[in-house]
Amino acid sequence: MRQAGRYLKEYRALRKKYSFLEMCKNPEIAAQVTLQPIERFKLDAAIIFSDILIPLEPMGVEFEFAKGEGPVFHHPVREMKDIEKLKVIEPEEEISFLIKAIRIVRKELDGKLPLIGFSGAPFTLGSYIIEGGHSKNYVLTKGLMYQNQPAWDALMEKISEVLIRYINAQVGAGAQAIQLFDSWVGSLSPADYEKYVLPYSKKVIDGMIKGVPLIHFAITSSTLLEKMKQAGGAVIGVDWRVNLGEAWARLGYDVAIQGNLDPVILLSSPDLIEKEVKRILHEAGSRPGHVFNLGHGILPNTPVDNVAALVDVVHEYSAK
Ligand code: CP3
Repeated sequence: MRQAGRYLKEYRALRKKYSFLEMCKNPEIAAQVTLQPIERFKLDAAIIFSDILIPLEPMGVEFEFAKGEGPVFHHPVREMKDIEKLKVIEPEEEISFLIKAIRIVRKELDGKLPLIGFSGAPFTLGSYIIEGGHSKNYVLTKGLMYQNQPAWDALMEKISEVLIRYINAQVGAGAQAIQLFDSWVGSLSPADYEKYVLPYSKKVIDGMIKGVPLIHFAITSSTLLEKMKQAGGAVIGVDWRVNLGEAWARLGYDVAIQGNLDPVILLSSPDLIEKEVKRILHEAGSRPGHVFNLGHGILPNTPVDNVAALVDVVHEYSAK
């Protein structure tokens, strides 16, 4: 959940010298940034520093991070002829910087902490390249889905094929778990999720090298949780809008759950953080299989001392 990032001064110092994408594409820098939060806090796992958008550029859809706007794709993919042009890549060759970064981090961690790799899910990545960036109502994405299903299916097939290779390349390089971010899928009705998305998320998860736990995460997904479980994952990640205890009871205890502190709580005080942690741990009811985490990415203006307080309090009160 963005362990690394702008809330850390050592990250901001590097970011003065390099753009975000330059940092992702330089294996030594990416490894160094991955380790920054590990050096500061007593975390239980590292997550590789990269971005879900990284496989899109070698597929043929270039993008940039425009100031204050987030990612912008200047040539969005909106018709069958655009989809046919997308390349099914060889990640070991075309995204070799990520593979190298994973190898460096595994060596540095020396078995002391596990390393999580990650990927966007087909819907979320598809929505970026169709819309050309962030979207409020997903009008163009849903337009393709509803009005040109053959093109939608062809796009989802192609992205799924790339993501299987992309995830397995990360596992091959040493990632010990994978988080699949379907961040924006909460914009869909459960019926549309089932018809247009579930088969492709399932295909990606089923295509993964066996024995590697997958965390399947989305935000505003409380109406989709059972269907996300059907698509797959050893762990379902939930945001803070759902009560963790209720979500787990609905999902069943044969699956693990990750979550679900509101990242904004980290902008308050250690006292409030402690209260919220206790409440969430109480919801989890001391069952095995709760991965404590934020319900979404850490915010850039988060005080570092509050993150340290959070980590301490989670360790103090967690079931041993
Ligand atoms: O946790 C970690 O340290 C791993 C790193 C990580 C990043 N992005 C680094 C990043 C992870 C896991 C992601 C995932 C990601 N990227 C998602 C899924 C998670 C989610 O938020 O739902 C999405 C949708 C993206 C796409 C993306 N990348 C956006 C929309 C932005 C702009 C956000 C902003 O606040 O400006 C990014 C940039 C980004 N990715 C940053 C970081 C540290 C900030 C870069 C910077 O300006 O220094």
